[in-house]
Amino acid sequence: DAPETDPFEVARTAAAEIAEATGVARHDIALTLGSGWGKAADLIGETTHTLDAQYITGFSAPALAGHAGTLRSVLLPSGKRALVIGARTHYYEGHGVRRVVHSVRTAAATGATAMILTNGAGGIRETWTPGTPVLISDHLNLTADSPLEGATFVDLTDLYSRRLRDLARTIDPSLDEGVYCQFRGPHYETPAEVQMAKVIGGHIVGMSTALEAIAARQSGMEVLGLSLITNLAAGIQQEPLSHSEVLEAGKLAEPVISALLARIVAVL
Ligand code: 6GU
Repeated sequence: DAPETDPFEVARTAAAEIAEATGVARHDIALTLGSGWGKAADLIGETTHTLDAQYITGFSAPALAGHAGTLRSVLLPSGKRALVIGARTHYYEGHGVRRVVHSVRTAAATGATAMILTNGAGGIRETWTPGTPVLISDHLNLTADSPLEGATFVDLTDLYSRRLRDLARTIDPSLDEGVYCQFRGPHYETPAEVQMAKVIGGHIVGMSTALEAIAARQSGMEVLGLSLITNLAAGIQQEPLSHSEVLEAGKLAEPVISALLARIVAVL
């Protein structure tokens, strides 16, 4: 990750390794599966290759139990190819933003023109009970960082594609949408920080996705973002938050939301 290395060159190397290992020259779409969304990998199509991400250039070993470090090539019923990324590097791991967005840049380098980013997150709206999937309509990047380097000015109007959100709602018209706030983590927010997020226009709090979405847009991909509400944010729910509770809520909701995601992928 030396400053003089070109992160896009690293991504092209990774994409070439994926093409070599899978024999698939081009992937059409990519999905990053966060907490609760993992089963979608099995439902969208037939996995023809599963790669251990840590052996692909630029990817790190999984930092956390429950975050599988695999890259899968999946043949969709339409004949299109999906790259399924189960190997997210979080900003809070401290390896820098290049590492965080490497999987997204790699997806673009494999040919993907649409990037589906999913996560498990906290809800600010009381009406969102744990297990509710929410479309991301926009974000607040509260990391004070950016994947763009130097004078790279990228427009983020309609970052979370209205076209893809509308397509998702043809599958489930009841899907709510909200503004995702990426905090640095790894601590959860204080109740005061959750109130701040609410006042500045946020509806969902989490520790991923926004930086990845910016990188996806820089690479020219269309972005669809989906959050699974695993719990209400601090101060909105009165009980303390725990990572095991988040994983548990993800597991419970997984069959339903993964089936939803598979149906969305089928119409993209
Ligand atoms: Cl409440 N906050 C953040 N930042 N991430 C979360 C969460 C809350 N719940 C699940 N993931």
